[in-house]
Amino acid sequence: MTIKVLGVSSSMREFSSSAKGLEIALNNAKENGAEIQFLNLQKTPLPMFYSTTEKTENIRKATEMVKWADAFILATPDYHGSMAGSMKNFLDYYWSEFAGKLFGYICASHEKGLTAMDQMRTAIRQCYGWSMPYGVSINGEEDFENGEIKNLQLKSRLTMLSRDLTVYGEIIRNQFLQDLKSDVSNSFSKHYGK
Ligand SMILES: Cc1cc2nc3c(=O)[nH]c(=O)nc-3n(C[C@H](O)[C@H](O)[C@H](O)COP(=O)(O)O)c2cc1C
Repeated sequence: MTIKVLGVSSSMREFSSSAKGLEIALNNAKENGAEIQFLNLQKTPLPMFYSTTEKTENIRKATEMVKWADAFILATPDYHGSMAGSMKNFLDYYWSEFAGKLFGYICASHEKGLTAMDQMRTAIRQCYGWSMPYGVSINGEEDFENGEIKNLQLKSRLTMLSRDLTVYGEIIRNQFLQDLKSDVSNSFSKHYGK
């Protein structure tokens, strides 16, 4: 199985440090053998959930990518200790599509963004997804110079996140798909999987 990793970026800023960190993490995942896609909500904005009955082109595109993915990396700026509204709005569109898949987290913050990452973890747990037990914090002003990472510890953590997400993501997804097909009726996948 070649694991498919979808990165979702929720900053609306043109030069976003969380988006930059995500891009690096996705490229690392590719080097680890993953197929990757990047959903940048700044370029592919979704309407507020339930604000339209029409399936817009962007909704269709995002849904196709979400269904395609075996694992995700979610990247958000820290807004008032929370994830960006655009990220929450993205998550509101889905739940069963997240079940049995592994999620990694990146947050751009001046304060590590732990509460923002915890909120994403809570939302994913509510949708029966698995979460990496750690996240990666980015401080845009301190960690980047001319668009390049200067903080080597951050570089190393992004490498670790991509490595762990591809390795554990593949194991979790494989088991979930195997359980779905098996005749074990009382499994997590049988309850929540599609
Ligand atoms: C509305 C708003 C709320 C913010 N709240 C916080 C906050 O609570 N804690 C913090 O450290 N930074 C806060 N910030 C700063 C952003 O998290 C920070 O600039 C981040 O690096 C932006 O990420 P980006 O480069 O990916 O857009 C806030 C910024 C905005 C615009």
